[in-house]
Amino acid sequence: MAQKWWKEAVVYQIYPRSFKDSNGDGIGDIQGIIQKLDYLEDLGIDVIWICPVYQSPMDDNGYDISDYKSILAEFGTMADLDDLIDQVHQRGMKLLMDIVMNHTSDEHPWFIESRSSKDNPYRDYYIWRPASEDGGRPNNWESIFSGPAWEWDDQSQEYYLHVFSKKQPDLNWENPKVRRDLQEMTNWWLDKGIDGFRVDAISHIKKAPGLPDMPNPDNKEVVPSFAGHMNQPGINDFLTEFRQATFDHYDIMTVGEANGVAVEDAAEWVGEDHGHFDMIFQFEALDLWGSQGGDFDLRDYKRVMTKWQKGLEGMGWNALYIENHDLVRATSAMGDEGDLREKSAKALATMYFFMQGTPYIYQGQEIGMTNAHFDRLEDYDDIQSVNRAKYMMDHEGASLEEAMAYMWQNSRDNVRTPMQWDQTMHAGFTSGQPWLKVNENYPSINVSRSLSDPDSIYHYYKKMIQIRRESQTLIYGSYELILPDHPEVYAYLRQGDGETYLVVVNMFDNPSQVDLSDYQVDFTVLANYPIEEGKQIKQLRPYEARLVRLQNENAN
Ligand code: GLC
Ligand code: CA
Repeated sequence: MAQKWWKEAVVYQIYPRSFKDSNGDGIGDIQGIIQKLDYLEDLGIDVIWICPVYQSPMDDNGYDISDYKSILAEFGTMADLDDLIDQVHQRGMKLLMDIVMNHTSDEHPWFIESRSSKDNPYRDYYIWRPASEDGGRPNNWESIFSGPAWEWDDQSQEYYLHVFSKKQPDLNWENPKVRRDLQEMTNWWLDKGIDGFRVDAISHIKKAPGLPDMPNPDNKEVVPSFAGHMNQPGINDFLTEFRQATFDHYDIMTVGEANGVAVEDAAEWVGEDHGHFDMIFQFEALDLWGSQGGDFDLRDYKRVMTKWQKGLEGMGWNALYIENHDLVRATSAMGDEGDLREKSAKALATMYFFMQGTPYIYQGQEIGMTNAHFDRLEDYDDIQSVNRAKYMMDHEGASLEEAMAYMWQNSRDNVRTPMQWDQTMHAGFTSGQPWLKVNENYPSINVSRSLSDPDSIYHYYKKMIQIRRESQTLIYGSYELILPDHPEVYAYLRQGDGETYLVVVNMFDNPSQVDLSDYQVDFTVLANYPIEEGKQIKQLRPYEARLVRLQNENAN
């Protein structure tokens, strides 16, 4: 398999608003990131991905861009960003920007022009439709952020499409001028010297021809519209053209957010010779992950992960992640927030980190931060979950209690609370009032404590990063699932030049039996419990995780 720097890298994702505030206004900023670069370097991070810091009215915290080529004042200035690029490079790391091209803000000059009249030259930059014959919306699509995906514009007397919030009108990729302008903007950033992109919501750019109604058996006002705008036929042409005009000319790393893309589409999306991206975030495993509450079945999860591991082997590359700014905390969802918090955080880490692919760590994951649990709906900011909670109460008869239960389980603010640096006020995130409440558990869960405890989750991550860096097998080796039907244990092999590693993780809070008699352990590389060497692994303690080197007769 071709060697590439980005295959060997470990990526750290920063949500700038919540990472570190340098000037006391309560909002994390670029200078704050710069202050923490030594921390990231020390952890062993190679690549930093920062969520959007462009000019934006912040309807969706920066995923609504109103100027692609300037920085929002609360994050800093373009000079700060240049400084960041420089400082990252000085430390031998790389920087990815997060680029949003499915939509812009409704305050982007293109949209302001577009809505000004039906014959404005920018009209076709967005997706406009007249009212239907009975005066209603053009179709029954629901927005991903709840409510109809169409907004009426009084000024020009038509509806525009917004797959996300109404302040995020969808760009019309059918218009070659839109594609050309986005390419120009992308190259502008690459020429500045950034090292690549995380590409937002990119599987939504192509809409089904004719924008057909979705099936609506229950006769609802609006219905989920994914089948109208997710990974639609024809999208490959847009993305091939895009890559050829941009990414192909640079030694960069790209990762696409690709909801709805299946492993069968892998050649087009991540194929090594002509894929749209170097890797993608697939959603298939994630969809199972979310359902942990009641009916999470580890066997399904293993099957899906393995399908992607084997499906891409030798032809593409996986992006490995268990948290990001759109999810909830893995430790809360899949692990334990109580006594077994550290054990479970390490177990989840071990499970995903040594698969074939580039591992991503979301800020705070490395210290085992947990979900927020705010008492009041007003304490939440996340447009997606707040809209949903309100919609549940206004249209579906939900009580406030039910809406709050929904928020506790699902709000993206669960992962967006300020980074917990130390035990001082507001967790050392800001000297002012934080824009979003700090999780109350910061006195016990914070970076400063983790740094001083050699047995902490932080130090475990640091070790994992070192171990992976030093092993070609753990990076490029093959992956093989073992014990596929075990309901509690995730176990797999990584095999390379005459050596084999075994990863074995009990994903649950009870002891679990395993039959690993076929595998002779040589030595333990990493474990989250004290280990007696030289013994067969027969029983795993709650959330026990091990990475072991097997004796050579196991290698092929
Ligand atoms: C992606 C982003 C998410 C954002 C959405 C709309 O899913 O990760 O945060 O809300 O796109 O841009
Ligand atoms: Ca600030």
